[in-house]
Amino acid sequence: MLTSDEKYMQRCLQLAAKGEYYVAPNPMVGAVLVAADGTILGEGWHKKFGGPHAEVNAFADYDMHGERHTCLAEATLYVSLEPCSHYGKTPPCADMIIRRGVGRVVVGCIDPNPQVATRGIRRLQDAGIEVVVGVMEKECRELNRRFICLQEKHRPYVILKWAQTADGFIAPLPKGDGEQPRLVLSSVLTKMVVHRMRAENMAIMVGTNTVIFDNPKLLTTHWSGRNPVRVVLDRHGRLSREMNVFSDDAQTIVYRSNTDWQYVLCDLAARGIHSVLVEGGSLLLNHILSTGIYDELHVEVAPITIGEGVVAPKIDLPGTPSQVIDSRSLYEIRHQ
Ligand SMILES: NC(=O)c1ccc[n+]([C@@H]2O[C@H](COP(=O)([O-])OP(=O)(O)OC[C@H]3O[C@@H](n4cnc5c(N)ncnc54)[C@H](OP(=O)(O)O)[C@@H]3O)[C@@H](O)[C@H]2O)c1
Repeated sequence: MLTSDEKYMQRCLQLAAKGEYYVAPNPMVGAVLVAADGTILGEGWHKKFGGPHAEVNAFADYDMHGERHTCLAEATLYVSLEPCSHYGKTPPCADMIIRRGVGRVVVGCIDPNPQVATRGIRRLQDAGIEVVVGVMEKECRELNRRFICLQEKHRPYVILKWAQTADGFIAPLPKGDGEQPRLVLSSVLTKMVVHRMRAENMAIMVGTNTVIFDNPKLLTTHWSGRNPVRVVLDRHGRLSREMNVFSDDAQTIVYRSNTDWQYVLCDLAARGIHSVLVEGGSLLLNHILSTGIYDELHVEVAPITIGEGVVAPKIDLPGTPSQVIDSRSLYEIRHQ
């Protein structure tokens, strides 16, 4: 059974999620203004990058629809992420909350951005506002795991994803002429799941051989949302500008001299990219797996066998005792 603080924080999380696909690299944030009797006076969320923050939108909603005579000194503002205390693209939300005279603020989790990092909370407390921190903290951090990873670890959040046959191959072997026979491992459903993952992450990356053999577009076509920035490696100048990854549909970053994983991550972080989805092939995935620097693995297992092929990265699939590796999430998207 949820406490009433948890109930309103859960609503903040629902609202925050409406900003998915539109706010990156900013966090998704939701806010709810609640009267002493539990009536919701206003709701808001961060709708797009550079736009007003959730708290500003919640007060705007209150101004338009709320009970004008409600005494805000008795109201509680719920917000899934600590209100900001600095001038960024918008003025500090903490100052606005103080000005509006709200008596109590409930915060889901602290903003790890060094420009905020508890300063917003302290500013509210210094103004005499009662502040509760950490209601549904795990869920609030989970929602913004990409943003939090960039702030705390100074690197993008990394998701590794591949599809393989039941006997452990990600593709048929190339033929003598260098051509590769086509093998479809995804279903209509799993293709949509993968394209949703593309929309959720700021960058998508594949190895050089995958660009050459598959000539992929790496766009978000089977789900609504933005195309991620494409990241490819080309140490030996093997990629032609005519290839689909260089189309005008999205930005493409090419690493030529240094393609070491730590270097690539460091450079992507410097560009403000908070997440990268790596979609193969095996050589690149094995390199990344060997560094241990990744956060999630998504493995799609198609119910077919081909006997020989490009061997899938070596990990223990779910169902084995090592289902959860180093507390990272391991998912399996099974064909129905
Ligand atoms: N089923 C799936 O989910 C899936 C997904 C993607 C691809 N595939 C299949 O996988 C096959 C290609 O996989 P692959 O394992 O042969 O190659 P890959 O991982 O796509 O590309 C590996 C190549 O990338 C270059 N590279 C540069 N920096 C690297 C680094 N740090 N670590 C690793 N590689 C680096 C190297 O080429 P240079 O020596 O030229 O630098 C290397 O040979 C294709 O047949 C494709 O169809 C399947």
